[in-house]
Amino acid sequence: MVGRNIYRLPIVSVPESTENDQGSPAGVTLRGPLREAMEAPPTVYELLGGQRFFDDLVDRFYQAVETDPVLRPLYPRDLRPSRARLAGFLAQYWGGPPRYSEMRGHPRLRLRHMPFAIGWAEREAWMTHMTAALDAATVADGTDRRLPDEIRDLMFEHFNNAATFLVNKD
Ligand code: HEM
Repeated sequence: MVGRNIYRLPIVSVPESTENDQGSPAGVTLRGPLREAMEAPPTVYELLGGQRFFDDLVDRFYQAVETDPVLRPLYPRDLRPSRARLAGFLAQYWGGPPRYSEMRGHPRLRLRHMPFAIGWAEREAWMTHMTAALDAATVADGTDRRLPDEIRDLMFEHFNNAATFLVNKD
């Protein structure tokens, strides 16, 4: 059931045991977008337990930002809206519903970071906190197991590349 893209599915669950030879529920032949949705591989968002995972990751990250002498001055006094934006962006990026874009439009991350002077020191501080948050992260499905290594590495790679791309001063 993990493989099903639940938020895109009009039918929430079909017992496996009633499937016929075509892998469809008995007496029903699924075609087109519904069939594609049923067969789609799970997204990283789903594998990690959905929005909760991203909220927890970003909470950990911002707890560290809160006391970081290099990063703290760049962020607004109230960090709550920033938390919601980053968690929404990441959830969407990793295959979740497009709530960030509904709220903020196209991400345009380089443009949106231009008002903040981001040099190598800021980039390193950001990556240090995000790497620590990733290393402490657990899957938000009630099992509390650690993030699978392949997903952790994929996420690290994305953060590492994006952080370099966002450097905008010498
Ligand atoms: C390189 C170091 C980075 C620094 C110093 C930095 C700093 C900031 C600051 C000061 C803000 C404004 C706070 C806010 O209004 O939300 C911001 C916003 C944001 N950052 Fe970063 N950031 C960095 C890297 C990244 C990376 C790697 C990502 C994504 C992978 C990212 C994603 C975002 C997003 C989604 C927003 C909210 C954009 C919006 O909708 O306005 N940032 N960042």
